[in-house]
Amino acid sequence: MVIFNPTRRVAILFAFIPLIALYLIYNFKLHLFINSISTWPTQRQIVTEISTFARHKLFPWTIKVDAEKEAEEEEEAAAELALSGRQPFTRHIVAVGDLHGDLPNARRVLRFANVIDEFGDWSGEVDFFVQTGDIIDRGDDTVMLFLWMDKLRGQAAAVGDTVLTHLGNHEWMNAIGDWRYVYPSELKTFGTIAARQRMLSSGRIGRSWRKNYTTASRLPLHPSIGPPNTPYPPSLFSFGIQKDDDGLQFRHGHDEDDPLSHAAISFVHGGLSPSYPELSPFPTRINEISDSLLEKLQDRKQPPPHPPNPYPGLPSSATPEESRLYNANGPLWYRGWAMGDEATVCAHVDDVLAKTGTRRMVMGHTPDFRNIKSRCNGKIIIIDTGISHAYGGVLSALSIHYTLTPIGDDHSNRWYEKEVVSALYVDRQEILVTNEREITGSFFHDNV
Ligand SMILES: *[C@@H]1O[C@H](CO)[C@@H](O)[C@H](O)[C@H]1NC(C)=O
Repeated sequence: MVIFNPTRRVAILFAFIPLIALYLIYNFKLHLFINSISTWPTQRQIVTEISTFARHKLFPWTIKVDAEKEAEEEEEAAAELALSGRQPFTRHIVAVGDLHGDLPNARRVLRFANVIDEFGDWSGEVDFFVQTGDIIDRGDDTVMLFLWMDKLRGQAAAVGDTVLTHLGNHEWMNAIGDWRYVYPSELKTFGTIAARQRMLSSGRIGRSWRKNYTTASRLPLHPSIGPPNTPYPPSLFSFGIQKDDDGLQFRHGHDEDDPLSHAAISFVHGGLSPSYPELSPFPTRINEISDSLLEKLQDRKQPPPHPPNPYPGLPSSATPEESRLYNANGPLWYRGWAMGDEATVCAHVDDVLAKTGTRRMVMGHTPDFRNIKSRCNGKIIIIDTGISHAYGGVLSALSIHYTLTPIGDDHSNRWYEKEVVSALYVDRQEILVTNEREITGSFFHDNV
């Protein structure tokens, strides 16, 4: 056919426009931009509906068969959802402050906090137990307490739970040879001064300090930021998805937009001073310095203890960082968070939380003999209540319940996050702070 009339040529061209439009819509899936289109029934659905309606009218007994089939399909869908990773997640943490040589009181506390059973063994009821240091001095049960901590650590690990223990300023004092708070009755439990020195350096307790104790911890509330003490900020080499010990996936990138990037708590004996220069990366930097200082102290010829001998001090080979770890502004002795006035303290806390990749910090060291103290709306929590009979304070433990619960259908990435921080006492519990919010993202965790 030969087209000779220009008007006809234009008319034919226009006739192709709907075809071209359909082609474009189909090819680029433009119809998906119409929001409501997903709710329109498909041709297949319409046919199925009509045929089912007709079948139910003609053969009424098929109604029951169809209902059964539908219930089965729903069950399968629920099972699939359970496998998809959007299950609720919970983590329960219990932390206890200064114990100072009092095993019976320590056992009472761990019992009412449900960390141990009635035989003093790991109960399996909490995921993490944290002790913030100062187990030694002012009481006689040093040996039994440290051996018990190791026993609990082993029992916890056997069922997938974790015990995190810390060196307090009193553990360090003893490592240095500053024995001012060692009771003569406690020294008898070791036998001799030399035996005590050996036990705390190359012996059973000293080796455990070196291997199982740190000066600071960063404890994640959710596994997506990795196992305990994953450094913040993460090193350049550890971006992307990694696997932790259990083969779980977690995102280990420095992503400030990740709603869980700071879902962690710091633990240290004294406090993380805003002007302490070794806060970052946290807690790695502090623990590196702590490891090297402890090694120097334990490996040196043990100095005769003070008193009556002169104060031995840190080894002459101690670096400036190692001296700063042990001075009044360092993590073992700092009291600013406990003693400072509310306005000053709360003005500085966010800066330290941001630097350490955490939401709150927990510490012991400065006792309040009546209460666990929460400051700046739970960003600072001081858990030393003088548990040991040496002080006669109250028996207490800090309990943190973290939950992440999926919201909506499986394709939305919405979660409800809740963290309840409470103080446990012999006869009562007090909620110190509850933080809850809705977040969006894909988070991986084992089912509960
Ligand atoms: C560290 O703790 C474990 C328990 O998990 C214990 O078996 C071990 O003896 C401790 N390490 C040292 C060096 O004492």
